[in-house]
Amino acid sequence: MVFYFSSTLLLFTLSSVLADEDISAIPLRGRSLESKKVFNVLGYGAHGDGHHDDTKAITITWAAACSASQPAAMLIPRGQRYLINHVTLSGPCKSSIMLMIEGTLMAPPKGPHWIKKTNRHWIMFSDVNGLTITGGGTGTIDGNGKTWWQNSCKINSRLPCKQAPTALTFYSCKNLKFENVKLVNSQQIHISIEDCRHVKIARLSITAPATSPNTDGIHVTRSKHVQVTDCRIKTGDDCMSIEDGTKNLHVKNIVCGPGHGISIGSLGDHGSRAHVVNVTVDTAWLYCTMNGARIKTWQGGRGYAKNIVFKNIVMGNVRNPIIIDQNYCDSATPCREQKSAVEVSNVLFKNITGTSASKEAIKLRCSTSVPCYSIALENVKLTLKGGDVVAESTCENAKWRKSGAVSPQPCTLGN
Ligand SMILES: *[C@@H]1O[C@H](CO)[C@@H](O)[C@H](O)[C@H]1NC(C)=O
Ligand SMILES: *[C@@H]1O[C@H](CO)[C@@H](O)[C@H](O)[C@H]1NC(C)=O
Repeated sequence: MVFYFSSTLLLFTLSSVLADEDISAIPLRGRSLESKKVFNVLGYGAHGDGHHDDTKAITITWAAACSASQPAAMLIPRGQRYLINHVTLSGPCKSSIMLMIEGTLMAPPKGPHWIKKTNRHWIMFSDVNGLTITGGGTGTIDGNGKTWWQNSCKINSRLPCKQAPTALTFYSCKNLKFENVKLVNSQQIHISIEDCRHVKIARLSITAPATSPNTDGIHVTRSKHVQVTDCRIKTGDDCMSIEDGTKNLHVKNIVCGPGHGISIGSLGDHGSRAHVVNVTVDTAWLYCTMNGARIKTWQGGRGYAKNIVFKNIVMGNVRNPIIIDQNYCDSATPCREQKSAVEVSNVLFKNITGTSASKEAIKLRCSTSVPCYSIALENVKLTLKGGDVVAESTCENAKWRKSGAVSPQPCTLGN
């Protein structure tokens, strides 16, 4: 092995770290580690055997990296499995941190480790500015969700409905990059971005069985300037769920399915006020998902969802390829007609092709009290999968226009 180091400072830094560690445990790639001080979890007591609890080792390695006065790299070496319980890794840190997850982080199954106070989150990053997480092609985060799913009221209706942990939560982080990691079998949501600014997520693979309950891929809320690119998401729930407070979200090159598709909402539940603005989903493939491009809001809410673009999307056997539903009601009792609603406007569906699994390929079900407006359909071609029945569209209280060829033939225009 030949290493080239561009600065003596780096040599000094690395040799001081390596002094008490096995050099072979650290895969040095000069470029990404340049001028960073390396903190290897194996040097802080991690076992990496998949049996011993490595939560404490992760916590103290983080504390050391976070308090380093120069850019730090925290390394979780490859080839090993690290058993981790609920953990919160908090900032602010003194400098930027690169977290290199090259091995597998594994959650314990549902059991006594999970106490009520902490069981909404498995791994949480809070208040960190300048965090980069990278998986180097081998990094895996395994939520070990099976026992949680079996105990879900959605799987066994005799059990009470209880929350399960979100695998990864980013809370109040700025300048976050998260790339090249595999996430599997989360207990519930895989990734939740909350109250964050300037986030770049790229090249993630997220996988859970189609039957796993509530295992959303990427959830975004109260966050601005978020990019999601080149991700492959197969789960039992939403591929992406885009919720209240999302501003300037750009999704590009995403493959979804199985799962519930890409959803904005649900917004406005329990009379709440919701604001979603500037969301673009560009270049997506959705296979065998329940929905394709979807906006859902509850009656009785307030606020808006506007400036939304879904374009260059291929649907393969999708149940509701294009759907706006302002009468969303996911409740045991029917939802009553109400006077207010989250206003939906300036939505463009452009270059959307493929097959629908149901007859109604386009559904615009807007509210009587707050109709949708400026809904545009441009170059849409959806056919019914494997049948000779032509696909159809339905619309209620939607002001919309089409340009280019739109099939199925839109229902009454401009009403
Ligand atoms: C939405 O995007 C437009 C155009 O890029 C920009 O002018 C506007 O400020 C954005 N709105 C918000 C709330 O960020
Ligand atoms: C339509 O979208 C598909 C899928 O993303 C893409 O391959 C194609 O180039 C797009 N067509 C146009 C005219 O942009």
